[in-house]
Amino acid sequence: MGSVAVANVPRIDVSPLFGNDLEKKMEVAKAIDAASRDTGFFYAVGHKIDVTNLSASTEKFHMSITEDEKWQLAIRAYNKDHQKQIRSGYSLPIANKKAVESLCYLNPNFDHDHPRIATETPLHEENVWPDEAKHPGFRDFAETYYWDVFQLSHALLRGYALALDKEEDFFSKHFRREDTLSSVVLIRYPYLEDYPAPAIKTADDGTKLSFEWHEDVSLITVLYQSDVQNLQVKTPQGWLDIEADDTGYLVNCGSYMAHITNDYYPAPIHRVKWVNAERQSLPFFVNLGYDDTVAPWDPANPEGHPEQQPLSYGDYLQGGLLGLIKKNGQT
Ligand SMILES: [Fe+2]
Repeated sequence: MGSVAVANVPRIDVSPLFGNDLEKKMEVAKAIDAASRDTGFFYAVGHKIDVTNLSASTEKFHMSITEDEKWQLAIRAYNKDHQKQIRSGYSLPIANKKAVESLCYLNPNFDHDHPRIATETPLHEENVWPDEAKHPGFRDFAETYYWDVFQLSHALLRGYALALDKEEDFFSKHFRREDTLSSVVLIRYPYLEDYPAPAIKTADDGTKLSFEWHEDVSLITVLYQSDVQNLQVKTPQGWLDIEADDTGYLVNCGSYMAHITNDYYPAPIHRVKWVNAERQSLPFFVNLGYDDTVAPWDPANPEGHPEQQPLSYGDYLQGGLLGLIKKNGQT
């Protein structure tokens, strides 16, 4: 195969979004606006997160969890005894069939006393964790990281709001520590001497893939990855490579943003190329609360009437997650 052209993915210093200088924040907002209307991706730098620790702690966990522990933590799709674990828990690799594996966890505030857990509201689950004695410090690291990336995402949402000519808290007022449905997924793509053929999909254009084309189910996605190029974005010029950068966070809009902005900020269509390399992909899917609804409008024509109907975040997320599994299979 010939070489694929590289997508325009600007590096944006988002540090002003944590401060009080409105002029500087508006500059960041302008850059977010331009990226959102171009390839749909940008790298957030100046993010204030210790990604060296993130990567090292995740690697330690991935490399030390046993097959038995994976079953004990498995989501319902892998272990029928775990009926309440639809989202949170371990997605297992399958020998000679499936290579990727991951741990997903939700809001650390979802414990048995939480009102949404007590009433068994869909999409809310208590997290499951490995034995502290076998993985000392892992739970503390993972929960701390949730709030670190929450804070970064809160700043990014303030930037998106300004980019769309809204009040700074337009999105973030719906993004609360008490009840956000956001998730962290710690994905491991392994290097394998004998890579299982069923784990390699072939796209229409012949490109070998680990995960087929899709839009993200999120408001925005805030992703840390290893320094191994793998993502491609669909553009009017065809599929373009997104360069890897393990110092920044790759940020893009999900389909809820596309819905509420009448596609002014589309959810970019992207896919994961198959690469036989040991690497991490650590997305934070920024989700609002169950009953939160952002009324659709058209930023290109603010006085007009958008075609989209108001959609609560809970309904959106439930439908979207099911749709993604139907289209691309169980991860
Ligand atoms: Fe994605």
